[in-house]
Amino acid sequence: MTTGMSDHSADIAPADHPSHPAELARTAPTGQLPARFENPGLPTHIPRMADLDEKAARRAEKQVAALFGLSILGTLGFIASYYLVTEHGSVFVPGIGLMRAENLALGLCLAVSLLGIGLGAVHWAKTLMPDTEVVELRHPLRSSDEDRQALVTTLREEGRKSQLGRRPLLKYSMLGAMTLFPATLTWQLVGGLGRLPHNDLSTTEWNGRYLGGGKWQFVPKRLMRDPENTPIKASDVVIGSVFHVQPEGVLDMTEGKLEAKGKAAVLLMRLNPSDIRSTKELDWSHDGIVAYSKICTHVGCPVGLYEHQTHHLLCPCHQSTFDVTNDCHVIFGPANRPLPQLKITVDSEGYLISAQPFEEAVGPSFWERGS
Ligand code: FES
Repeated sequence: MTTGMSDHSADIAPADHPSHPAELARTAPTGQLPARFENPGLPTHIPRMADLDEKAARRAEKQVAALFGLSILGTLGFIASYYLVTEHGSVFVPGIGLMRAENLALGLCLAVSLLGIGLGAVHWAKTLMPDTEVVELRHPLRSSDEDRQALVTTLREEGRKSQLGRRPLLKYSMLGAMTLFPATLTWQLVGGLGRLPHNDLSTTEWNGRYLGGGKWQFVPKRLMRDPENTPIKASDVVIGSVFHVQPEGVLDMTEGKLEAKGKAAVLLMRLNPSDIRSTKELDWSHDGIVAYSKICTHVGCPVGLYEHQTHHLLCPCHQSTFDVTNDCHVIFGPANRPLPQLKITVDSEGYLISAQPFEEAVGPSFWERGS
């Protein structure tokens, strides 16, 4: 540990001292480095307004306090954004485009919060803290007891010079800003997990018509090719083929389409009925045509790879593998429950339709999923 820093500016020659290295280098014999570089010293200290005028110091103090206050407002705004800004709202930002209003509000408030503390600290240092340049001399790692004591004295002295004791407004505004700021991180951690899903994943567009208050009325929907948005006849589905399917109406949606598509995505395949080993799967199929949620029950990737010879569905993210002949049970990988099956039948024109909604939540498991 070196000794405490001390003000040596008075002992050291200023930059225009004749022993300045540039000067020495110029005067050294051509092509040779000077024998040694002299210490150029420190520039003369020029007092600032706040050093000379108490009014200016008070003005600076208020400015610093205002900046810390701005940080406090930013932090409070950050917390409030979680509750006041709707998560579905979006705003157009020139140069960036459409973005989520909640993200914009959180980002701006966090920026103000950090900027307030940063600018406040810089302004404080530039106007009120001592600005005399100091040097720290090299010493053995362990300082002598006198030096250690000198360090303590210096710290106390510097603390006194920073005027924290004399300026309670500055002290408390800084403490307020610094104490409150971690709340942004806490809220980010807790709030950033998003809101709880409740029964959102238990209801999809296959549920039919939404009546409000969490109630749905089941309405059979045609299975539509994605993205062609055309209905599928049972006769179109041959053994070995696989269709990416959405419920009728979803691909025409103008609002909430992405979320609706994400939850309702289904894979349609035809098996030889004699290959199906699960009675329930057979009951819910139509002539060997089965429909399963496309959303992996691990962490929600689309299960897009179908091996028609083994009748395995493969998730490309972490290789969970589902056996289509046995109710899409997991035979490999980290997923821990089968893909939910959609019960299907055909309408009077021979088009495939849903016979009931999914009986369980689609997608990854979560603690509110229920059965
Ligand atoms: S998301 Fe499918 S295996 Fe991980």
